[in-house]
Amino acid sequence: MSATEIQLHDRYFAPYLDADKIQAAVKRLAGEINRDYATARPVFLSVLNGSFMFTADLLKHVTVPCEVSFIKLASYHGTQSTGNVKTLLGLDINLDGRPVIVLEDIVDTGKTLHEFLPVLRAHGASNIEVASLLVKPDALKYKDISVKYQGISIPNDFIVGYGLDYNGLGRNLQDIYVVK
Ligand code: IMP
Ligand code: MG
Repeated sequence: MSATEIQLHDRYFAPYLDADKIQAAVKRLAGEINRDYATARPVFLSVLNGSFMFTADLLKHVTVPCEVSFIKLASYHGTQSTGNVKTLLGLDINLDGRPVIVLEDIVDTGKTLHEFLPVLRAHGASNIEVASLLVKPDALKYKDISVKYQGISIPNDFIVGYGLDYNGLGRNLQDIYVVK
């Protein structure tokens, strides 16, 4: 194990994106949002748990008037023939007629957003965009999902750090690591 490798549970991870590179991407995304939402007063909806670090760092660079709220998604099995139903926990803000920017740590298959964005539409959000620090284009299965604000595009590898976990560990790391 080299000095910079880390171990979480049974797996080893190698350095992949350092904090400077992550912060540069976060600042660029904030700049794009500041430009596009100068008069719109967006509501940021941060999807917990993974997005907590991205949300905190991004919002420090957002200069337009905005609101922020945090939600969790819960899955239930077996109640409907459609299978998984994602339910919103903690939505404490009125979205009726409001522009919403969903904040994600990573968009992988797109399943989470595929199930969740219609729920937001049902709450009356007027215009829904997604900002994701990371995207895995090769893993995207739900082609209806488009991420307008994309930080860093990565291959289809499992990563941890900066909010992302491996079975609960690694969320606190300020760099991102890839599984070996
Ligand atoms: P999706 O629904 O397949 O797009 O996956 C979205 C969620 O899966 C993300 O918000 C993460 O919580 C989790 N996820 C996807 N890829 C990774 C990864 O490489 N490491 C850790 N978590 C991941
Ligand atoms: Mg997530």
